[in-house]
Amino acid sequence: MDLENFIRDIKDFPKEGIVFKDITPLLKDAEALKNTKEALLELLQGQKIDKIVGIESRGFFFATLLAQELNAGFIPVRKPGKLPYDRISESYELEYGTDALEMHADAIQKGDRVLIHDDVLATGGTAEAVCKLVERLGGEIVQCNFLIELGFLNGRERLPGKDVKALLTY
Ligand code: PRP
Ligand code: MG
Repeated sequence: MDLENFIRDIKDFPKEGIVFKDITPLLKDAEALKNTKEALLELLQGQKIDKIVGIESRGFFFATLLAQELNAGFIPVRKPGKLPYDRISESYELEYGTDALEMHADAIQKGDRVLIHDDVLATGGTAEAVCKLVERLGGEIVQCNFLIELGFLNGRERLPGKDVKALLTY
């Protein structure tokens, strides 16, 4: 099954000049959804995982599915002001200004083997901030995996030394 056929290009969204990769056709097709989950699991090649970190919001879809398959726990990384308990925070650069991402301070135990998942790797700012959150809590990052890598934005250069994998690269 060619998963690429389930990714829809939307021109000029959310603003002019950007071609948005819409994954909702893939999410709504039962077989594509299942195949995508299985393909993401294969990227791990059987490595043991304790915690999957999913990044709000589009990273949540597959992160929880993967957690179930791997018999691992799921950890949400959220945008500021959403998590209720003690949290740690990392800011990252946007095209204009900065934003931040947060994780609960008790989300990860020292030595936990962690998989970080998100739908898209673009500039890498988001994933880089999440790596910092995980490492601050003593987690060992086994892999960062994505459905889609926008290779022309060189996001993986911001994740040196990490095992960075994606199902589809543009
Ligand atoms: C998008 C995408 C990734 C991130 C990648 O999320 O889902 O999380 O951008 O960009 P980067 O590699 O340049 O940091 P967005 O912030 O648009 O939020 P959403 O997932 O809630 O839609
Ligand atoms: Mg996102």
